[in-house]
Amino acid sequence: MPDIGLRDVAERAGVSIGTVSNALNRPELVSESAAARVAEAVDELGYVPNIAARQLKAGRSDAIGFSVINITNPFFADLAFGAEEQALTAGYSVLVGNGFDSAERESRYLDLFERQRVDGVLIAPVEYHEEYLQRFRRRGVPVVLVDQRHPRGEFSSVSVDNRLGGRIAAQALLDGGCRHLAFIGGPKSREQMNERLTGLHEVADAAGVRTTLIETTTLNTGLGREIGEQIADLPAADRPDGIFAGNDHLALGLLQGLVGRGLRVPEDISLVGYDDIEFAGAAVVPLTSVRQPAREMGARAIELLMHHLAGSDDPIEARFVPELVVRASTRSH
Ligand code: RIB
Repeated sequence: MPDIGLRDVAERAGVSIGTVSNALNRPELVSESAAARVAEAVDELGYVPNIAARQLKAGRSDAIGFSVINITNPFFADLAFGAEEQALTAGYSVLVGNGFDSAERESRYLDLFERQRVDGVLIAPVEYHEEYLQRFRRRGVPVVLVDQRHPRGEFSSVSVDNRLGGRIAAQALLDGGCRHLAFIGGPKSREQMNERLTGLHEVADAAGVRTTLIETTTLNTGLGREIGEQIADLPAADRPDGIFAGNDHLALGLLQGLVGRGLRVPEDISLVGYDDIEFAGAAVVPLTSVRQPAREMGARAIELLMHHLAGSDDPIEARFVPELVVRASTRSH
C-alpha cells in the first residue's frame, strides 16, 4: 500500500495542501464544503496523518513518557492514574512503559520515549540510569524521578519519606508486643527499599530487639507465599514474631504462606505492608500498611514536569509523609 500523503488527499479533494492541513488540524479555518471534500478524500484514500512529521514541525508531541517498575503492582497503576489525570488538564497524554522489574525492558521504553520525542519523562526506576537522565537533559527533555530521589539532587523528584515509613512500620510491630522483627523485601540497591530497612533498624536497634533481613530481588505475591511458608516451617524459637514487608504485593503473598501453614496472623506473627494498595483492606486478614499517596504523587510529578516545561531548571524534591493504616494483621497493645 503506497504511502498516502497530504498531496494525494489535496489532488483527490481538489483543494490546496494547506487547506487539507487546516481541515485536519484547524477545521475552524476552512469552509464546510472544503472540509467535507477533504474528509471524503481521506476516507477514499485511507490517509493516516504522520504524527511524527507534525511533531517535528510543531516542536512538541503533547505526550509524556512514564516508565514504572511494574504496572501489575497497583501502586504504580495508581501513580500512573494520578499522573494522567493531571497531564490531561495540561493537554498532555501519558505513555506508560512497564519495566516489569527488568532494567533491559525499562531501557527499551526510555529509548522509545526518546525516539517518540516525548515532551517530558517520569521515571520510577527499576535500576538507576544516570546516563539516561543526562541524555534527556542534553536533548532539553525534562525528567522527574518518582518514588526515589536523585542521589545528588540534580533532578526533580517525588517520593515519600521512606525512612520515616520504615520507622512507623517497626514501631507498630513493637507497640503490638513484637520482639523479633524481620524485614522482607528489596533489592537494597533501590533507594526506597534501603530507606525502609534503615527506618526499621533505627527503631528496632534503639529498642534492643532482634532483627532479621530476608532480601529479595523483586516483590510479588508468589515470592511472598514461598517465603511465608519457609518462615512458618521454622522452629518457633527462630521465627520472627513481626514482619515488615517491603510492599503490600509481597505482604499479601506472605500472608497466604503463613496462614496456609496454619499460623495465626497476628496472634502468632504480625505483618505490616507498604503502599496501602486497594487489596490490602480486602485480604483474608485485612493488612496493616504504610500508605503512600500514590495518585497525589503522580499528579505532583506532572506538576513538576510542567514547571520545567515552562522554563525553570531548578530541581525540586517533593516529599510526602507516609501514614500508618492499622488493620487486623497487627496486634494493638
Ligand atoms: O519497589 C517497588 C515498591 O517501591 C513499590 O511497591 C512501592 O512501594 C515503591 O515505593
